[in-house]
Amino acid sequence: MIQETIVITQNSSGVAHIAPMGVHTQTAGDEFIILPFRPSTTLNNLLESKTAVINYCDDVRVFAGCLTGRRDWPLKAAEKINGQVLDCALAHTEVELVRVEDDETRPKLFCKAVHTVNHAPFKGFNRAQYSVLEAAILVSRLNMLPLEKIQAELDYLRIGLEKTAGGRELEAWGWLMTIIEKHIAYVASQPEAGATIAEAKP
Ligand SMILES: Cc1cc2nc3c(=O)[nH]c(=O)nc-3n(C[C@H](O)[C@H](O)[C@H](O)COP(=O)(O)O)c2cc1C
Repeated sequence: MIQETIVITQNSSGVAHIAPMGVHTQTAGDEFIILPFRPSTTLNNLLESKTAVINYCDDVRVFAGCLTGRRDWPLKAAEKINGQVLDCALAHTEVELVRVEDDETRPKLFCKAVHTVNHAPFKGFNRAQYSVLEAAILVSRLNMLPLEKIQAELDYLRIGLEKTAGGRELEAWGWLMTIIEKHIAYVASQPEAGATIAEAKP
């Protein structure tokens, strides 16, 4: 099973790094596999510090924010490891790195839970949150996807968003759409293969 979480790591100077990551886990159990694509600050920090905090969070602005240059979310100190916890997390798990299966594209970082804390109740599923998560994943893969696929997926995701969103979901969606619209405008103006979102950024 893959859970979409916010992974927070720290470098040797104690600077926190916040990144959405799909963490492989079981419904019950204390093993987690974090799979960062190289190059990755999460990967570098985890290899260095051997610890991370996995945050379970229903404020989808954190997911969309990290993908759109808004990484400055309020944090507090972890309880059992030297690390940082997302202030708005519903719960978090502090993990230690146990083993690495190296790979030139996507290493597997096997971690074990050392401490889990609940902060607030889970209040149920929300379709707009799903829409924002999927749109954030689209943004992380813009370079690899044809424009027609991006448009088709957004048309579908917009249905759940428009029916069920609250303010946080609408704000997060807006940030993502700004990036996607810039990308579409750029690709439309540069039809040759190889156009990238990096080039499309302002
Ligand atoms: C829901 C979601 C899940 C993601 N899962 C992963 C993942 O498992 N591995 C990864 O490398 N990037 C993942 N990403 C993209 C990263 O969050 C993003 O590229 C980030 O900057 C990773 O690089 P970093 O470690 O250098 O921050 C995901 C993004 C989203 C929105």
